[in-house]
Amino acid sequence: MINELNLILLGPPGAGKGTQAARLRDDLGLPYLATGDLLRQHRARATPLGVEAAAYMASGRLVPDELVIALLLAEIEERGERGFLLDGFPRTPGQAEALDAALREASRALSAVVLVDVPDGVLLERIVGRRQCAGGHVYHVSFDPPASAGVCDVDGMPLFQRDDDRAEVVRERLRVYHEATAPLVGYYEARGLLRRVDGLRPAGEVYASLREALALPEPAL
Ligand code: AP5
Repeated sequence: MINELNLILLGPPGAGKGTQAARLRDDLGLPYLATGDLLRQHRARATPLGVEAAAYMASGRLVPDELVIALLLAEIEERGERGFLLDGFPRTPGQAEALDAALREASRALSAVVLVDVPDGVLLERIVGRRQCAGGHVYHVSFDPPASAGVCDVDGMPLFQRDDDRAEVVRERLRVYHEATAPLVGYYEARGLLRRVDGLRPAGEVYASLREALALPEPAL
């Protein structure tokens, strides 16, 4: 088996997958493949995929499997050949099976699937309070505010709210998560790959337990 890390971050919308992924990516130098970000990039460029995906995303529904699977597998082939960190994929049993088949074909395997576990009750508040800049730096108006309201600490760009972060769309995203994505917890648990992390604590503590769950050594100070 090749010594590579092939990780999946799983969890409901707003659980903190992107927040934790940013830390893991910086610490481990793993290619970070987030289907939500990739789809938003396509939408911004108005590619045929972006145009087709836009209506699904705006209403909180999932983009059809065949589109997302083709997108993600191409990204793995291009950027993830020595390891990857997936965020937002797989999200359906069909996507999980397609990923398994592609890895098997390449004589590769998943290393672990980390479930960032957060109860529904707090997710709405987290998502509705999220703000980010065009460079992808993410804040929360209460839990992680920028030093100066509405401006990114890192690059000084204005902060905005994602168009699918409105309360009525978030409720649909949560419904879809429980219906389509939550079954993947059992799928990966049965294969001994699932690691659960309590995502309710402050982000730094969540990250410490995530590293522990993956048996990663303490980062150098
Ligand atoms: P996507 O972009 O993947 O959105 P999501 O899964 O709904 O996840 P989020 O980005 O909303 O949340 P997160 O868990 O990353 O939370 P974050 O770290 O930002 O998908 C968007 C859409 O694209 C989908 O609805 C679908 O239409 C489409 N799509 C994407 N992938 C697809 C696929 N595979 N198949 C089909 N369609 C697909 O944190 C949230 C907030 O909480 C932030 O403000 C943060 O600062 C704060 N926060 C984080 N951690 C903590 C903490 N520990 N304590 C307090 N606050 C915290």
